[in-house]
Amino acid sequence: MSKQQIVRRHTPRSIAALDAPIVMLTAYTAPMARLLDPHCDMLLVGDSLGMVVYGMDSTLAVSLDMMVAHGQAVVRGSQKACVVVDLPFGSYQESPQQAFRSAAEIMARTGAGGVKLEGGQEMAETIQFLVERGIPVMGHIGLKPQAVHAHGGFRTVGRGDEAEQVLRDALAVEQAGAFSVVIESTLEPLSRAITEKLSIPTIGIGASPACDGQVLVVDDMLGITATPPRFVKTFASLGADIEQAAAEYAQAVRTRAFPTAKECVGMPTEQAADKP
Ligand code: KIV
Repeated sequence: MSKQQIVRRHTPRSIAALDAPIVMLTAYTAPMARLLDPHCDMLLVGDSLGMVVYGMDSTLAVSLDMMVAHGQAVVRGSQKACVVVDLPFGSYQESPQQAFRSAAEIMARTGAGGVKLEGGQEMAETIQFLVERGIPVMGHIGLKPQAVHAHGGFRTVGRGDEAEQVLRDALAVEQAGAFSVVIESTLEPLSRAITEKLSIPTIGIGASPACDGQVLVVDDMLGITATPPRFVKTFASLGADIEQAAAEYAQAVRTRAFPTAKECVGMPTEQAADKP
């Protein structure tokens, strides 16, 4: 009898109880989720997929159906990580009821462990509404990419008077019942101060090493994104590797070095001898 290994998937509850720094990366496809899953506590199906996968110039045009399709792929490709799926722009800001319908659709159709939504004080009522109805919510404060036009671009948030507001946002998100909060692109001392004040885990991106965890967009850290934000550290050079592989493939096709008899079925021996 074969022994089946039972892998227990992280839940928002087990994530909140983790002592060690929390490891989160974005994932958008099943094969990538399979590769990242053994190393990550959480996989985020971020609406950054609009820019990373679909080449959009912001996340604003990402739809609920896109999030569901990619959420399903990432859940299928992973076993251990807690999968969190972003609520896309326009699917939750109107009312807590609209947010519940969107979040429930994501949870039911993907099997994700929770949803993430952008916003602080102004979203507190919505977060509470979802949490009270059984939907684990991760907050997202600091730079909110869905508000890129209101922010005046993708920039560092928290200078001057803004710092007080970001802190109020963090406290409101915690108070509303979020199990964790992403802090994006803020001044380091502000993210550090928020992390000290909150009891839920903070996940930083362009934030602070003091955060309880870190997240990066996977294509950025793999070196695929042409011009990643300055807070990204690249851990591989896959962009260059892919270009090199494509160049070698093109050369092999153009010189008829590929395919060879090895890659063909029933190739006559005299032709196999002719061809490399
Ligand atoms: O959409 C996303 O990938 C995100 C991360 C940048 C945190 O929200």
